Amino acid sequence: MKITGIKDYESKIKKVLITEDEIKAALKKAGEFINSLYDGRPILLVSVLKGSFVFMADLARQVAVPCEIGFMCVKSYFEGTSSSGNVEIVMDLDQDVSNYHVVVAEDIIDTGRTLRKLVDMFKSKHPLSLHVITLLDKPDRRVVEIKADMSLFVIPDEFVIGYGLDCAEFYRTLPYIAVYGEG
Ligand code: IMP
Ligand code: MG
Repeated sequence: MKITGIKDYESKIKKVLITEDEIKAALKKAGEFINSLYDGRPILLVSVLKGSFVFMADLARQVAVPCEIGFMCVKSYFEGTSSSGNVEIVMDLDQDVSNYHVVVAEDIIDTGRTLRKLVDMFKSKHPLSLHVITLLDKPDRRVVEIKADMSLFVIPDEFVIGYGLDCAEFYRTLPYIAVYGEG
């Protein structure tokens, strides 16, 4: 995909699926979920880059328990339109997770392969506890069994962009979530 200019860029944003206001309301609930889950105990909130950078920044500001933040960058390899389950850690956390109650903020669960790998990897390092919060969940696409502890939005089988999610690295900066389409 090559973006030639603003007209071309905008023409591929087919329809707004989740508005900024809907995201704000869901973030508040996610913050309350974390606060009640940990009841004052400190946590490590982990952003899985790049897709969750916007989500994690907004979620972090809804969290009232003492909170450290951590970043890791993973690359999921694709076979056609599906992730292969080959997940490469491009940049690892700088914290030793065995000392933390870990909350992983993911952008989207599609086939589930990426999150399955991540959860197995975290568990092998024995965190004090582990929870996963995902912004989006596409259950119709699942090929590997995995569930988040909280999904802010369950969406149909469409390719979505915005609020951190990209198509070929563009559209991450849209403040809402939209369906992507060519033609
Ligand atoms: P998995 O299929 O659950 O392993 O998802 C792998 C990764 O694919 C996600 O973390 C996203 O980065 C990306 N992905 C899956 N569906 C979408 C989408 O609709 N829009 C943008 N990225 C997606
Ligand atoms: Mg991701």
